[in-house]
Amino acid sequence: MMRTVIVVGTLLLGAGAVLAQQDAVKLAQDTMKANGRNMGTVLGPMVKGEKPYDQAAVDAALNQFDDTAKKLPTMFPASVKNAKWEGDFSPSPKIWDDKAGYDAKVASFAKVVSEAKAKVKDLDSLKANFPGIGRECGACHETYRLKKG
Ligand code: HEC
Repeated sequence: MMRTVIVVGTLLLGAGAVLAQQDAVKLAQDTMKANGRNMGTVLGPMVKGEKPYDQAAVDAALNQFDDTAKKLPTMFPASVKNAKWEGDFSPSPKIWDDKAGYDAKVASFAKVVSEAKAKVKDLDSLKANFPGIGRECGACHETYRLKKG
């Protein structure tokens, strides 16, 4: 009886850990996909003149980046290292092996985003700040994101 209780308890713990791992993967992917949409379908088209400048939409996008910057330090816990990542991208093991380097990329992204939040008030200031944000996304991806295939 006692043994059954222990076995069931251990199984439940294991299942809880897998769920937590999947939640962490989903949170990271959902956050990154929202970032991608904000760059590609909100800010990008405004910069190119394909959509009218919309301060509320700009603020929402920059707030999403700011929220991302706050989540990034803990977004990839060690528990997701061996998780199954659906889709084309997964975190590089360098996130854990070179934590100082990763943290530096997060800090740099956070700084550029908070500067943009303070400065972007019209189309010209959006145009001035947009490329810098894109460079920060790319700089982290280059080293800390893997593409399948
Ligand atoms: C400090 C690191 C870092 C920064 C900064 C960062 N990303 Fe990512 N991004 C990652 C990692 C790691 C992955 C792969 C794991 C994942 O999908 O969450 C990723 C994945 C993605 C994906 C693919 C998501 C999917 O599942 O299809 C997109 C799109 C994306 N990022 C967009 C952005 C954009 C846009 C920015 C800037 C506004 C940005 N990221 C900033 C680390 C970062």
